[in-house]
Formats: sequence, structure tokens, C-alpha cells
Amino acid sequence: VVRLIVTVTPNPALDVTYRVAALVPGTVHRVAGVVVRAGGKGVNVARVLHQLGENCAVLGLGGGHGGARVTEELRAGGIEVELVDTFSEVRRTLVVHGTDGVTTSLWEPGPAPADPGQAGEALTGAVRNRLPSASVVTVSGSLPAGVDADLPARIAATCLDAGVPVVLDLDGDPLRVAAESGGAVLMPNSDELEALTGERPVTPADAAALARELVRPGLPGRRPAAAVVATLGADGLVAVSPAGAVHARVARHVDGNATGAGDAACAAVARCIGAAGAVTSVRLHELAARAAAVSAASVVRPVAGEIDLSAYRRYLPHILVEDL
Ligand SMILES: Nc1ncnc2c1ncn2[C@@H]1O[C@H](COP(=O)(O)OP(=O)(O)OP(=O)(O)O)[C@@H](O)[C@H]1O
Ligand SMILES: [Mg+2]
Repeated sequence: VVRLIVTVTPNPALDVTYRVAALVPGTVHRVAGVVVRAGGKGVNVARVLHQLGENCAVLGLGGGHGGARVTEELRAGGIEVELVDTFSEVRRTLVVHGTDGVTTSLWEPGPAPADPGQAGEALTGAVRNRLPSASVVTVSGSLPAGVDADLPARIAATCLDAGVPVVLDLDGDPLRVAAESGGAVLMPNSDELEALTGERPVTPADAAALARELVRPGLPGRRPAAAVVATLGADGLVAVSPAGAVHARVARHVDGNATGAGDAACAAVARCIGAAGAVTSVRLHELAARAAAVSAASVVRPVAGEIDLSAYRRYLPHILVEDL
């Protein structure tokens, strides 16, 4: 059986980018170029995995022309897709790039599913059906309006019950609920870690201390996470599990667009865990080094969901990894 990495995107999007000379409110603009692309964090994770040669499947909620377009585009790129027909339309994110260097973004709220509870059940069921051939499952990004914050935690529990490891890249209430249910690998950035713990990590050692609390057994009302990979932007990341804590970063400065760097890190973490078969079998140094190299290699690419493969291979031998 070919093992798949399943990436779950509860709230996918069509990312629309307009190019104009300069955006001036209150005036008419001739749009010089339009790019429409399938988006959403789990879609980005799958694109990076596909570039790394992994078999993956994108699961999520969808519907309408937008959902069909997302499905068609990813399939044309060789990625398996299954979107549960939920919405009249998927949300769009509109980015207006001025050639003057100013970028303006307009995020649509996206429609609420007619029956959010049923949509959540259907997505959980679609994930469950994939588990016999899944090596690891990721759940990323926001939830559609009206969907309960515990959906990612419920999907995670379904996977963990079947012995399939889970990586969660969430924010806000869905992250809080998932952290309380435990068992998964959490991938907060600094802001998300602060929102979750109430403390702002300033140094990698701070982030490791907060992460250690999340993997520590015996906390009342909370099961420990299997591991935490806290991403710290240009400072790299810390990976913490009951086996230890390491900090990894690229040795030199990387310039570019960090949007989607967290998704690239998530792809690398999922790939390591999928290959090892279980979180407890992963070598923390290797996981951290690969995640730092893959995510830095996404920064040099202008769009989210893409890495520069040759940059990845160049960075990997030179990642600085230290025990904390
Ligand atoms: N300027 C940079 N130089 C090198 N590596 C970077 C840089 N910015 C980000 N990274 C890498 O990317 C990882 C993820 O970045 P970041 O912490 O910004 O994630 P994020 O806020 O979740 O991003 P997103 O949600 O947009 O995907 C970092 O842990 C780091 O390894
Ligand atoms: Mg992120």
C-alpha cells in the first residue's frame, strides 16, 4: 500500500491576486494581471509535500464553482483532492499588489455551512475513511463560520484512536481546545503560543519553556501534546517533546516572503513523522533541522505553498541545531 499524508483544510479559499500600478481609494483601476490560485493553509502544506515527492491528499470543506476550481487545479498538479460539498461558494482572498510596492489584502468572511454540525461530521468521516492508508494527518487554518471550535480536536481524536499521528497548525479557540485534548503535535507561531499560554516568548529558550508545559504529563484537565514545534520567524523554530528540546535555524539571513513559511514547516514536520511512523520514533534534531530548512526555502519563493528545492538542499547541511 502506498501511504498518504492527508492534509485537512476546513476552510479552503480561492486566492485572487490583482496587479495594479498603485491602489488609490476612490478611483478606477485597470488591472494589469489577475492570478487565481487554490489556497488555504492545508492546501499550502500539500503543495510543499508534493514538491518534496510525497503522496498526499487534500481533504476539506468546499462547494460551488470555487470548490470545483480548487479541486481541478490541485488535481491537474497531481494532488489528490476530496472536498465535502458544503458551501454555495468557497471564500476568496483578494490581494492587490501595487507595482509601487504597496500590497492591500481583502479577506472575505466566507459563507457559513447550511448545517455546520453536519459539515463537521462529514469532514471527520472523510478523514476516517482515509486512515487505513494514511501515515500522518495534518489539520491547518481557520474554521468556516458557525463550525464548532472543537472540530480539529475531534478529527485529531479520530486519527489518534486509529494510531495515526496528527499535526495541528491552528489558532485561537480551535488551538486551545486541541491543546486541552492532547495527543497531537502542535505548531504554534509566537503569537499563537502567547495566545495559548498567556506568555509572550521572546527567546527560543522562552518558547521551549512554554512548550515543555504543553508536553508535560499530569496536568489537571489537560492531556499532554505529543510534541510542540514553535515557529519563531527569522529566529527559526524550537521542537519540544518528552524526549528533549532543540532550537534550529538557518545559519544566514534569508530575505523574501514569509507568508506560508509556517505551512512549509508543517509539511516538513508531517513528512518526518510519516516516515518514522510515530512521533516517539522521530529524531528531534532531524525533524527540527528539516523543518527549519524547508521553511527557510519557502521564504525565498514569492508565493505561499512553494519552496525552492535547491535552496532547501543547500540550507540543510548548514542548519544550526542546539539542545535547550
Ligand atoms: N526570514 C526568515 N529566515 C529564515 N527562516 C525563516 C524566516 N521567516 C520564517 N522562517 C522559517 O519559517 C518558519 C515559520 O515561520 P513563522 O514563524 O513566521 O510561521 P507562521 O507565522 O506560522 O507563518 P504562516 O502562518 O504565514 O505560514 C520559522 O520557524 C522559520 O524556520
Ligand atoms: Mg502559521
